[in-house]
Amino acid sequence: MTLRFSRQGEDGILGYRIMEARQLAERIYQVWVEAPRVARNARAGQFLVLRIDEKGERIPLTISAVDGDSVRLVFMAVGKTTLQLSTLCPGDEIMDVAGPLGRPSEIRYFGHCVIVGGGAGIACCPIIARAARAAGNRVTGIIGARSANFLILEDEMGEACDELFVATDDGTRGHHGFAADLLKQVIARERPDRVWIIGPAIMMKVTSEVTRPDGIPTLVSLNPIMVDGTGMCGSCRVVVGGETRFACVDGPEFDAHRVDFDVLMARQRTYTGEEKLALERFSAHRCRCGGSESHG
Ligand SMILES: Cc1cc2nc3c(=O)[nH]c(=O)nc-3n(C[C@H](O)[C@H](O)[C@H](O)COP(=O)(O)OP(=O)(O)OC[C@H]3O[C@@H](n4cnc5c(N)ncnc54)[C@H](O)[C@@H]3O)c2cc1C
Ligand code: FES
Repeated sequence: MTLRFSRQGEDGILGYRIMEARQLAERIYQVWVEAPRVARNARAGQFLVLRIDEKGERIPLTISAVDGDSVRLVFMAVGKTTLQLSTLCPGDEIMDVAGPLGRPSEIRYFGHCVIVGGGAGIACCPIIARAARAAGNRVTGIIGARSANFLILEDEMGEACDELFVATDDGTRGHHGFAADLLKQVIARERPDRVWIIGPAIMMKVTSEVTRPDGIPTLVSLNPIMVDGTGMCGSCRVVVGGETRFACVDGPEFDAHRVDFDVLMARQRTYTGEEKLALERFSAHRCRCGGSESHG
């Protein structure tokens, strides 16, 4: 595992340079960050923890793709740090990047794999789909979003999978309804050997019920609050099979049918007040700077 917490940077780099930044959909952005050692060691399913500047908080983001010395992050701007990240431009630097973190996805030959992504969770899917296919699996992709405006990486998933199905809650693209409906249809056609479901906690909770009756092995990638990402702070505690596990070192992927999603969702709301305050302060500061200043 390669870890970096220091601005001394890796391979002599001061900070981690943004190579490319653009908006993919409503409130969803991608940035390519130069981080050679992370890029060299990253595997499907892993994440990194970044801190934009010395005043910033640490947030975890999945390593969504790797190209040469750079890693891609795809994120939804939901609060102070992700909003600040969305304002960075090529040439800007992120102060700290630690990773790759977490256990990689278990990739081997299973037969038929189905990868279901919802919302910003789709970010994690192409890298898993490509790895599963490279291991000889036939891969079905299912991606879903609230509306066509929020849908990301459709072309990339189309290329990474043998077949791809799309759903939107409002019917503006693909099936009118949920990714869970499409998963039911795929299962009715043929029983998959392994399923990944990655998205908001409520989506993972509901969708994993689809595979429970047939006992189809199903993994979810959990997204609790994380701080250090190395098993030391305890903030990412989740309950799996009645036992406490740390998502950063024991996960983030776990057996969907053993996860207590209600505990996960309750813990995700722990700092709602503080997060709202941080976002208000960041927005007020940006306003005073006429929108041009990006530091919180
Ligand atoms: C392993 C892992 C991988 C993730 N990968 C992605 C990804 O690829 N793309 C993406 O859009 N999001 C991802 N997330 C979620 C992302 O970390 C949060 O959206 C981000 O931390 C929000 O920070 P904020 O300051 O912008 O928002 P805040 O206002 O601080 O919080 C908004 C929401 O994000 C959650 N959150 C806040 N801080 C953290 C934190 N330190 N760790 C986890 N959740 C937090 C809160 O529960 C809240 O619901 C991932 C989370 C985990 C645990
Ligand atoms: S994030 Fe601190 S223990 Fe997992």
